[in-house]
Amino acid sequence: MELKEVLRFADEKVFAKTGKHLEDLQEAILKETLQGRKYAAKVAQDRDCSEGYVRVAAAELWKLLSEVLGEDVSKGNVRAILERANFYNSPSTIGRDHVTVNNNVNICQEKARSPTHPQNPQQTPTQPHIDLGDAPEIFRFFDSLRDSFASRTPQLSTLENWITQQRTRLIALLGISGIGKTTLSLGLINQIKTGFDYIIYRSLRFSPTLEATLTNLLQIFPQPTETPQNIDTKISQLLNHLRNYRCLIVLDDVQMLFCSGQPPGQYKSDCENYQLFFKLIAEVCHQSCLMLNSSEKPREIVRLEKAYHPVRSFELGSLGIAAKDILQSEKLSDEETWETLIDIYQGNPLWLELTATLIRELFGGRVAEFLQCEMPILDEGLQSQLSQQFQRLTPPELAVVTHFANLAEPVAVSYFFNKIPLSSSEILNAVRSLRNRFLLDAIEEEKITLFSLNPVLKQYVQSRYLSN
Ligand SMILES: Nc1ncnc2c1ncn2[C@@H]1O[C@H](COP(=O)(O)OP(=O)(O)OP(=O)(O)O)[C@@H](O)[C@H]1O
Ligand SMILES: [Mg+2]
Repeated sequence: MELKEVLRFADEKVFAKTGKHLEDLQEAILKETLQGRKYAAKVAQDRDCSEGYVRVAAAELWKLLSEVLGEDVSKGNVRAILERANFYNSPSTIGRDHVTVNNNVNICQEKARSPTHPQNPQQTPTQPHIDLGDAPEIFRFFDSLRDSFASRTPQLSTLENWITQQRTRLIALLGISGIGKTTLSLGLINQIKTGFDYIIYRSLRFSPTLEATLTNLLQIFPQPTETPQNIDTKISQLLNHLRNYRCLIVLDDVQMLFCSGQPPGQYKSDCENYQLFFKLIAEVCHQSCLMLNSSEKPREIVRLEKAYHPVRSFELGSLGIAAKDILQSEKLSDEETWETLIDIYQGNPLWLELTATLIRELFGGRVAEFLQCEMPILDEGLQSQLSQQFQRLTPPELAVVTHFANLAEPVAVSYFFNKIPLSSSEILNAVRSLRNRFLLDAIEEEKITLFSLNPVLKQYVQSRYLSN
């Protein structure tokens, strides 16, 4: 791609976002950087200013471009990001056999086609084809959830941006069980469905083999002339569909592909080839997005995120005060105390729903009266929900988590050395695993990372593992 074209594209994007064109100094910095040159000395000399001044201006420019392009832009990646963004924005690239960037490196050997220009126009659905399979029927509740859903607006916007603007091919939506991954992904589908040819939701809760999942997915698309026999052909047929159509596929409950009692993200033996499939989705050029919902972080995501820009992960947290809407719909009273209740139950919508039922049944819905009990109270449903998660831990994770349950304050990981009969590596790995299951919170304090267990989990561990 011509230098002039990249510069023009950057200027257009900045203008569209800010209403201002790039300044001369910014353009000069960009021009030098795009040519792979050290910009500071040259630009400073041309403009008769200090190199420090140019560097500050450059830092501001990368920040501006990061905002405009929605990715972390630096001098090292600016050209690749601008070229990729321009490729997906430009109608002229549609149907090209390949695109070359810098020194003729081929970044995309497959044809990139617009959803409106598929390979075979007869096969294009006129409306998006939506197949939500066995997804929970949340749309029924959409009106009653409207306010609590509004609090997820920033998360929805980020995900929408990754999918529609940045053309992210693989997204992991992560978070502790009950935090709202399924609900959010269905809300996202509702919000962006018009931009797609196919929208598919499937739960992997019964750990289907990759072959079974592929067969299931392939049935949704127009039937090929030959039914593929082997897994390779099935994968390549699905990739063809992902190239020819713009598809959003949500695979939910991905943690069920992983072994229980093993460190998180370790695939069950008959599910191992999902790992390769996810890698291909990230690597191969296509115009679709695969979203993986999981309460355990898939191991390869971290590696893929580093290696490929079209891979992202998103950790979902508390619903915040918008969870009041759940309490409202459960017809609880004493509204002035609801924030306390939400804080105690970590803004986890499932934990709040279960506790709200208990409050209604035993306290006539009066939250203030319930809060007089020693907090937190764990309803039976909540205990059994947590028990399913804790059954998956390894012995070292259990040893570490039970120690955390006794601590009043957050601690650094080194605190455990010589306190638990485990080696330092075992302790570090166990803490990391607990983080990858979203069971431990982490905060940075004075350049130290401190970990803690939230009060609900602490209470669960104490009553399940520490009381006799
Ligand atoms: N934004 C929201 N507003 C109101 N209720 C919500 C919201 N998000 C989730 N919920 C409710 O919380 C419960 C748990 O949500 P959901 O099933 O989406 O969680 P999850 O993260 O997918 O859990 P799991 O990991 O166990 O599958 C559901 O009953 C859902 O209706
Ligand atoms: Mg779910």
